[in-house]
Amino acid sequence: MSESEQAAQRTLEYYRLNADAFREGTREHDVSQNLDALLRHIQAQPPLRILDLGCGPGRDLKALTGRGHVAVGLDGTEAFVQMARAESGCEVWHQDLLHLQLPSESFDGIFANAVLFHVPSAHLPEVLSQLHGTLKPDGVLFCSNPRGQDEEGWNGDRYGVWYSWPTWRAHVLAAGFVELEHYYRPAGLPRAQQPWLASVWRKA
Ligand SMILES: C[S@@+](CC[C@H](N)C(=O)[O-])C[C@H]1O[C@@H](n2cnc3c(N)ncnc32)[C@H](O)[C@@H]1O
Repeated sequence: MSESEQAAQRTLEYYRLNADAFREGTREHDVSQNLDALLRHIQAQPPLRILDLGCGPGRDLKALTGRGHVAVGLDGTEAFVQMARAESGCEVWHQDLLHLQLPSESFDGIFANAVLFHVPSAHLPEVLSQLHGTLKPDGVLFCSNPRGQDEEGWNGDRYGVWYSWPTWRAHVLAAGFVELEHYYRPAGLPRAQQPWLASVWRKA
């Protein structure tokens, strides 16, 4: 197993061991600002077909379904796949981000909330290319990641990359997307108190 695969497996093991606590700790997180940012840029007519990448226990699958869309989840943690199916009634795929197998031109949008930062940077171009390929023409990609100065490594038992905006932007542009908007979260706080960087992109 490569170092990247080991990093992914140890990270997934962290989520497996902490699945119940993660679900309870994040169930009430309000990410409607992020869902709105994805949906407002999609030009196709609803109901939209949305991939929730790294869906976790299914909070946002439920929200997307509640808004009338057809949401499909994907996660590498088996416990989350089961929770997400039970929570939302949606189709949920058990896949590792490092070995994605996605249908071609299948989704109007991708919601990647707090997940792509777990991909080792050497694999990010391939993952972004897969996401580009599974979007329909003019489809929209939403990403939210904890920001930093491009530090990469371990935070406890979770591997991550804390991208700066210029580096993140360069990666996504190189994958064939055009920039639609970006913003920092939570809203209404000084920048130093906004650890999350959200960005929205269209398949060029
Ligand atoms: C911080 S959680 C975010 C969950 C959810 N999107 C949310 O906003 O609450 C990161 C998610 O990424 C998933 N994940 C991490 N590494 C992964 C990998 N290599 N393959 C697939 N999923 C992965 C975890 O299982 C977890 O559900």
